[in-house]
Amino acid sequence: MAPKITVIGTGYLGATHAAAMAELGFEVLGLDVVPEKIEMLQRGEVPMYEPGLEELLRKHVAGIEGASGRLRFTMDWAEVAEFGDVHFVCVNTPQKHGEYACDMSYVDSAVESLAKHLTKPCLVVGKSTVPVGSAARLAARILELAPAGASAELAWNPEFLREGFAVNDTLHPDRIVVGVGSEHAEKLLREVYATPIAEGSPFVVTDFPTAELVKTSANSFLATKISFINAMAEVCEAAGGDVVKLAEALGHDDRIGKKFLRAGIGFGGGCLPKDIRAFMARAGELGADQALTFLREIDSINMRRRGQMVEMAREALGGGSFLGKRVAVLGATFKPDSDDVRDSPALNVAGQIHLQGGQVTVYDPKGMPNARRLFPTLGYAETALDAVRGADVVLHLTEWREFRELDPAVLGAVTSAPVILDGRNALDPAVWRAAGWTYRAMGRPAA
Ligand code: UDX
Repeated sequence: MAPKITVIGTGYLGATHAAAMAELGFEVLGLDVVPEKIEMLQRGEVPMYEPGLEELLRKHVAGIEGASGRLRFTMDWAEVAEFGDVHFVCVNTPQKHGEYACDMSYVDSAVESLAKHLTKPCLVVGKSTVPVGSAARLAARILELAPAGASAELAWNPEFLREGFAVNDTLHPDRIVVGVGSEHAEKLLREVYATPIAEGSPFVVTDFPTAELVKTSANSFLATKISFINAMAEVCEAAGGDVVKLAEALGHDDRIGKKFLRAGIGFGGGCLPKDIRAFMARAGELGADQALTFLREIDSINMRRRGQMVEMAREALGGGSFLGKRVAVLGATFKPDSDDVRDSPALNVAGQIHLQGGQVTVYDPKGMPNARRLFPTLGYAETALDAVRGADVVLHLTEWREFRELDPAVLGAVTSAPVILDGRNALDPAVWRAAGWTYRAMGRPAA
């Protein structure tokens, strides 16, 4: 019989994993401690914007007409323990307030709550991004707490999904990495992933620390690539070079590759910034801090980009103060195809200009409710056109397709000055200039 799956934590990672497992044919029970989330999921609604996820949920959530019924949700730990052969732990590990280290309290509490109820043999599989060494610690904790004793085992299986592509990344992963302590755990995980859809993904079997490190080092590498090209953008600005051409030419070298070389206002979100900081903190605890001092520079190049965008806006307005200036901001989320505004470079730039007296109006296709909650004092508009109406300068800060499809001529007619600063190097300068705009971008020559 196919193993029964549970998924603990139903955020971006957990909700997607639960729906994907149901899609692959497993019986799945999801658990969350937030009642509103469970109620939404039971109705087939997703608590965040993620393309394709709601459709996938509605295909499987029990009680929805026409659904397979393979996916259910609960808040009951005993029910989860009783149901599952494989328990995926998908709770978040945010940055600790005022510290670099990550907050493990949600993972610790999820594993402990579950372990107390584990009376039958099962595999607990950690998916959350954790400091290296956590899996070994949690395995010992399960052994201590679980009535099933050593037959309740732990494995580590990091998740690499990107927001905006979560469903596709889960169903067609680049690779599956499992850190295991026994052949039995490996066999069970191979069974879970031996599905027609996940077929073809490399399956890497390793120990706990290596599995944990694959995730944090992958995110560090990606962050490094982005900050590298942003550092080159700074040099291009000083030397009159064009970072977009530079990235294109670099990317033709297969060893470097084209991806993650888009210069702009840098990375944000709930993962890259906090993961590189938590990695540095953990390396410090292990006495290996010297190995990761370069990440401090990666972080500071990244954070500097936001300030540089603010200065570019100031310059476009003639230098001096933002007081009385109208600034339109296109984009609030940390990336397109997401409603996530956590550590969003776009909102950070908008917030800085607002604090300096600028009259900021933000528009985002999906991020407005979250942005309004987090930055209630900023101005908001219901459409891109309304945001740029009367603006002295327009800032393009999140590269939504909607913004690429805007007609610059229509927008230009309602601004007070048709000046656009492209913080994502995603708009076509020729198109905007042909429509009469002054187009400027980070790391590119003025005209
Ligand atoms: C990231 C990792 O990609 C994913 O594998 C991991 O599981 C979670 O963290 P995510 O946070 O969804 O995923 O976003 P990602 O697509 O990596 O983008 C992160 C940030 O980098 C965004 O703010 C994006 O705008 C920025 N970015 C990305 C750039 O500035 N330039 C680029 O070339 C690529």
